[in-house]
Amino acid sequence: MMKMYDVIIIGSGVAALTVAKRLCNHKNVIIFTKSEKTASNSYLAQGGVAVAIDPADDWHEHYQDTLVAGAFHNEPQLTKQLTEGAPQYIAQLIAEGMPFDKDADGKLSLAREGGHLKRRILHAEGDATGKVLTTFLLKQIEKQIDIVEHEMVFDLIMKDSQCIGVKTKASDGRLNHYFSSATIIATGGCGQIYQYTSNAETVTGDGIAMAFRAGATVSDMEFVQFHPTVLYQAGKTIGLVSEAVRGEGAFLQNSKGERFMDGVHELKDLAPRDIVARAIYQELQSGELIFLNISNVEDFEHRFPSIYQLCVKNGIDPTTKLLPVIPGAHFMIGGIKTDASGKTSLKGLYAIGEAACTGVHGANRIASNSLLEGIVFGNLTAAALCYSNQELPIATLEAGDSAFHRGQIKLPTKQEIKQYMSQYAGVIRCESGLTILKDWLENYDFFDIATDALSTEELEIVNMLTVSWLITTSALHRKESIGSHFRSDFPWRSGGVIRKEITRNFFQEQI
Ligand code: SIN
Repeated sequence: MMKMYDVIIIGSGVAALTVAKRLCNHKNVIIFTKSEKTASNSYLAQGGVAVAIDPADDWHEHYQDTLVAGAFHNEPQLTKQLTEGAPQYIAQLIAEGMPFDKDADGKLSLAREGGHLKRRILHAEGDATGKVLTTFLLKQIEKQIDIVEHEMVFDLIMKDSQCIGVKTKASDGRLNHYFSSATIIATGGCGQIYQYTSNAETVTGDGIAMAFRAGATVSDMEFVQFHPTVLYQAGKTIGLVSEAVRGEGAFLQNSKGERFMDGVHELKDLAPRDIVARAIYQELQSGELIFLNISNVEDFEHRFPSIYQLCVKNGIDPTTKLLPVIPGAHFMIGGIKTDASGKTSLKGLYAIGEAACTGVHGANRIASNSLLEGIVFGNLTAAALCYSNQELPIATLEAGDSAFHRGQIKLPTKQEIKQYMSQYAGVIRCESGLTILKDWLENYDFFDIATDALSTEELEIVNMLTVSWLITTSALHRKESIGSHFRSDFPWRSGGVIRKEITRNFFQEQI
């Protein structure tokens, strides 16, 4: 039986669930996730949702703070749509029952995070905003939409340059084909290509890699955001410590007790993330250990219950008031190039959330604009699809499309990718390191291979290699430092706002 849908959504984070919620009464929708539906970066998000909702705030100020943090590399029109549209979409969610935290007077409680000059971060259950929001959205759609767990979408089905569906691999290894008039990639970023990360274990760049394989344009891949404060224990990162903790008075110090952010930026510990992450990185290079001093945070245990529990569970005693932290890969600013309604360069293919690159984050995403991005562009994409009458495709696969021709393929381990990416394409990069990395990546097979024949582990490695190569090549080409992309051999900004866009043709020229 041919499995046909109006809309296939890949991923189960806030962007995916928002678009699903808005479409479910109008279209025949299915969601695929390669793991459990709660295994997403959205679910792990702590800080909250930025929105100029307070009477003393104004979306113009949110817009301005977003541009400043983004080093003015942002797409201004879409950034305006994000910040101006935010109050309306958030008000709608609240009206539908989303329980953001309130203060003792019953007013929405607003936190502050890096780069924001006002308190404008809505949160839920203190520091469990992503969990509360995804649970709320899941509850609203679960009865209306099929959510298929443990089935990995590994490639797009293309016909005459149009995406007409997806190929999946179920947990028992079975291959399936599903067809649709619209396919939406909402698979998040690729934090797992680095050694230290705040990301869920499943976040291996799958959506960006498969869109690139299919011929979609990707953009801005050199901009990988490192969160300054990922909890660090016994050589491993074990979860995020939200910037909202610094918003409530916590500050960074080195092993000597020095508050090294004081001389770095006027906003000190609440400077934009790229600046704080680099300052920490430099301290680490000089042999220091870094701690977040939480002694000024009132009632830490109750304001930040998830972080408190994370510490306790991992043997870190929060009553010492010093949390060991390190910068970790947090957010992919680049991704599949889209417009405001999620349209990619390929007909029938859409992308939203972290997998997409709308340009709203510029060269460095400001705190708590990511759940917001999922909500705003999820709504806009759903609106565009509701009014689209695109016909269901003629669902046929070309002869040989699913043939099992598995030649000998050479792949590294995930650990090796993490080591190389962290060493050469981390917080600070340079030409010689990036060249070593590019040569190393190009030793392996990750392009024009028969994906049907690979195991899910191998597929993830192929996807990790693909996004690693995209980051490395883009970072090599951007011979300047801007936002989250810092080149020690070009430690200045050259002035242009040219985006690095890459397609398969560019790849073929490079190799
Ligand atoms: C945080 O809570 O620090 C993370 C929020 C974000 O990445 O926007």
